[in-house]
Amino acid sequence: MAIRQLGYLLFNSADVQGWRTLAQDVIGLVPADAGSGAIYLKMDDRDFRIAVLPGTTERLFASGWEIAGKAAFEETRKTLTDNDVEWKQGNAEECALRRVREFIWFVDPDGNRIELYWGFISAFLPFTPPPGIAANFVTDGIGMGHVVLPTADLPAAQAFYERILGFGLSDTITMQFGPGLVDVNFNHCDNSRQHSLALAGMPSPNGCVHFCVEMPTLKEVGMALDRMQDAGHALVLTLGQHVNDDCISFYFLSPQGFMIEIGCGSANKDWSHHTVFETTRPSHWGHRFVLNA
Ligand SMILES: [Fe+2]
Repeated sequence: MAIRQLGYLLFNSADVQGWRTLAQDVIGLVPADAGSGAIYLKMDDRDFRIAVLPGTTERLFASGWEIAGKAAFEETRKTLTDNDVEWKQGNAEECALRRVREFIWFVDPDGNRIELYWGFISAFLPFTPPPGIAANFVTDGIGMGHVVLPTADLPAAQAFYERILGFGLSDTITMQFGPGLVDVNFNHCDNSRQHSLALAGMPSPNGCVHFCVEMPTLKEVGMALDRMQDAGHALVLTLGQHVNDDCISFYFLSPQGFMIEIGCGSANKDWSHHTVFETTRPSHWGHRFVLNA
């Protein structure tokens, strides 16, 4: 399994300033200028984990996945070629924006843009949260959280990520979401996070069903919930605890139209002893759908 972690997310936005406010005042990230109107959002000792690039639409532009080193990177690139996946090499300017030595990009069977890189570049400055926020984020060795990508053909998407990119299926669920039932596959990569990538059999006009960041304690999650509500954003799912990874989290809708999950306490897994399971409910408690209620 070549992919070590979810390294970064890149968003397009016509509202970069709105993202900056959301990130700093609600989520607790630290913004920095990334040049050409873009911003970096820092959550650990890396230079950024989220970058927001100016654009005309609100969209997840790409998810960036980290590979251990150059040899594994070249091997993965060859696997893509062998499986007729057309990839493009990132140029120097694109590498500089992403703070990586080298990356390629391609699209999955649903058109979601995936980037694979090796050699992240960082000043390793310590993360200092914005005033009034005590949290660091839980990322060390397990990536920035998880992202849920939409698919119109879940078996085909699962095969792509599992057989070509080497993700491992953690668990599956068919769950009620709003008015309908949605099939979701949760996948892990080469770290102990229960899922770094989920594939949801539903459309998503902005390319991102949701993404999740993890805080160290329930206190921090509760404080983030207060900040989110004080800022007037819409709660989507109440505070609850997931069955598959035990994460305690809430979901809200950002002004840019992204569903964002903020949680804590997700389980660390030993994949050598894991067997895939299906859950019949998403949460032990909570996570009640309240948007538009
Ligand atoms: Fe999630």
